[in-house]
Amino acid sequence: MIVNGKHFRTIWINPKNKKSVQIIDQRKLPFSFEIETFRNVKEIAFAIKDMHLRGAGLIGAAGAYGMYLAVIEAIKQTDFVKSIQDSANLLKATRPTAVNLSWAVDLMLNKILVDANKNGEDKVEQALFMAEFIANQDAEACRMIGEHGISLIREISQKKNGETVNILTHCNAGWLAFVDFGSATAPIYAAFEEGIDIHIWVDETRPRNQGARLTSWELEQQGIKHTVITDNAGGYLMQKGMVDMVIVGSDRTSKTGDVANKIGTYLKALAAKDNDIPFYVALPSSTIDWKIENGLKEISIEERNPREISHIEGIYNDELVEILITPEKNVGSNYGFDITPARLVTGLITERGICKANQESIFKLFPEYDR
Ligand code: MRU
Repeated sequence: MIVNGKHFRTIWINPKNKKSVQIIDQRKLPFSFEIETFRNVKEIAFAIKDMHLRGAGLIGAAGAYGMYLAVIEAIKQTDFVKSIQDSANLLKATRPTAVNLSWAVDLMLNKILVDANKNGEDKVEQALFMAEFIANQDAEACRMIGEHGISLIREISQKKNGETVNILTHCNAGWLAFVDFGSATAPIYAAFEEGIDIHIWVDETRPRNQGARLTSWELEQQGIKHTVITDNAGGYLMQKGMVDMVIVGSDRTSKTGDVANKIGTYLKALAAKDNDIPFYVALPSSTIDWKIENGLKEISIEERNPREISHIEGIYNDELVEILITPEKNVGSNYGFDITPARLVTGLITERGICKANQESIFKLFPEYDR
């Protein structure tokens, strides 16, 4: 997508040194736009855990590039296979909920092990090819989500005779959370391109404020009308007829259509149901965990540092500072995600089309997983 008039992806190979990987450091947004460079797998693993980069698709791509850097190191070790397996475990342990991470790392691992008998430089080249393939696939899947999802927005716009379509979104499921385009934002960007009048309600998304800091920044960069609201405001706006549809992303989706997404998503789905407002989840199929039937029972939910609740970050005297907002330090529990049961989801917008949130419809679009 575009930043200050220039096209960026969220992760790429350093053009000046092919053996390093670069990202947009999301901890600094929207206050400053900084690029960070990683030279080894440990640096990437730390950055994923510490949320220099975040979002299901991007974590997956970062896992893939991390494995590429792991190969560069492993060819210098006596036990190549052990070194690679250790790196895969290191990366997979960084963030448990988004399935894209283990999906991408396992794809890389399998390919790297198949190539284990090749010479050192060939192993490196093959790993780079695979990492780029995974990143490109993520970007293309999101672009296709836009192609399919625009029909839903178009339909509402037509019903409203071209009046503004108000869409509510939670967290950041924009291009910053993927390699490009985003999932929930892809239909929004496509609708904007087509000239449909849209306005986005952006949930601030406590505690890390991905909505207030990242989604609003993205929309601003693309010139899309939006308003940041508190996480608790959505229900009221829906009751007042000020929301036409909800589109959110997903960090892991069961094959039956239950959706794990940023904490607070479930409450939006409940409010949408109560007010008869369509609630869509946009996701590339890399986000579907084909082994899982019951999201609530089987998806492990990341618990993050309670400091994210007791403190808040912002700009003071031109500096990024963190301040305490609770009586004591380290209060609070910090579940990062919740589960929205399939029965509350109107539909899933995927790279292959839109389907109902149930096993039969999902397998119709993705028959190769129906075994
Ligand atoms: O904890 P984060 O910021 O990595 O959260 C993941 C997300 O970006 C959201 O849950 C998002 O809505 C899912 S789509 C990538």
